Amino acid sequence: MKAIKALDIIREMESFFKGIVQINKSLCGYTSIKIGGIAALFLEPQSNIDLGLVIQLFKLNNIPFRVIGNGTNLLIDDGRLEIAVIKLSSLFFKEILLKENVLYLRGGVTLAQLLNFSIKNGISGFEFLAGIPGTVGGALVMNAGVRNSLWAARVEESFLCVSDTLIELEVMDGQGEILKLTKSDAGFVYRGSKLNDLIVLGASFKIKKSTIKNVAELVKTFLKKRKMFQPKCSRSAGCVFKNPPGGGISAGELIEKSELKGWRIGQAQVSEIHANFIINQGKATFSQVCELMDFVQSKVNQNFGVKLKPEIEIWNEQGL
Ligand code: FAD
Ligand code: EPU
Repeated sequence: MKAIKALDIIREMESFFKGIVQINKSLCGYTSIKIGGIAALFLEPQSNIDLGLVIQLFKLNNIPFRVIGNGTNLLIDDGRLEIAVIKLSSLFFKEILLKENVLYLRGGVTLAQLLNFSIKNGISGFEFLAGIPGTVGGALVMNAGVRNSLWAARVEESFLCVSDTLIELEVMDGQGEILKLTKSDAGFVYRGSKLNDLIVLGASFKIKKSTIKNVAELVKTFLKKRKMFQPKCSRSAGCVFKNPPGGGISAGELIEKSELKGWRIGQAQVSEIHANFIINQGKATFSQVCELMDFVQSKVNQNFGVKLKPEIEIWNEQGL
């Protein structure tokens, strides 16, 4: 991959860029699994205008870029990445606006902030997102969600997804242009969308009015369920593999039945609690996690003839 002339780019940005720009930034602390190497450039734009001008400059200079949310669905190479990474962390991208029955959220709002706002204002419809550690942008790109029925029935296979109540999206394309997309333009599927090559600036959602008490109680119930079935406070990127299509046996169950719970390569370990989580026990490397993923895939394939597909996104030279 061609080296980015970071200092030249920064010099060109000087005349307009009002946000924060850094060179040679470690991404390790920006991911929940705490793995990630150095990005040539790291930018935190101050507004849509700032962002648009930067994207135009990148286009002109052929600079590859990626947006990072909370880095909770990412596995990033621990080598050097010749890319610019953009994080929508400024206050501008954290705005939440409520107008009658519509809630507008900018792309950098975290799901935790959204839930705090929902509880405070008695807004129902987002409770199921409790415990998903991402941002609105990342959640929409991934179409984040959970199983329905509060996981109680266990036979209920339908999923609640962040796109369920979406009205429309505001995105920026690779030319720095702002576009409005409808829900169907975004092509949402189970744990995916067609938004990967766009920047999610914001989205509006239909909401239902409820009471503070009811919303808070439902949030608590979802969190309680999560604590029962998933590892707490560990370094992970959530479920590593998508569930196989057809709503049959889950990836976690296939991995557990392959007797891989607790299996380790270096400091990367298949969680003892939920087999579809890989835990970084401290100093796991990118290659250890990749090797463990390959091993799990081949064992499950051998045992059940099922080819598990990664849910987590991998950023390395091949994947960018
Ligand atoms: P990132 O991981 O930073 O990025 C994910 C993708 O979105 C990347 O392609 C990135 O480039 C892109 N992206 C991020 N922001 C933007 C933006 N503004 N514009 C354009 N692209 C953007 N997921 C579920 O669906 N359900 C769960 O129950 C769940 N539980 C989890 C539990 C744990 C403990 C962990 C660690 C993860 C869990 N996840 C779950 C996975 C993850 O939290 C979600 O996929 C989340 O929505 C990712 O959001 P993020 O902001 O961290 O995105
Ligand atoms: N199971 C096992 N062993 C395990 C894990 C699960 O046998 O180690 C079994 C459970 O007993 C249950 C079934 O598999 O019968 C399903 O388990 P669970 O309810 O935990 O759901 P999941 O399909 O494993 C999905 C999402 C999670 C989400 C939960 C809860 C995927 C890949 N995962 O997990 O999302 O939190 O439902 O709604 O769709 C994520 O995407 O990162 C994520 C964590």
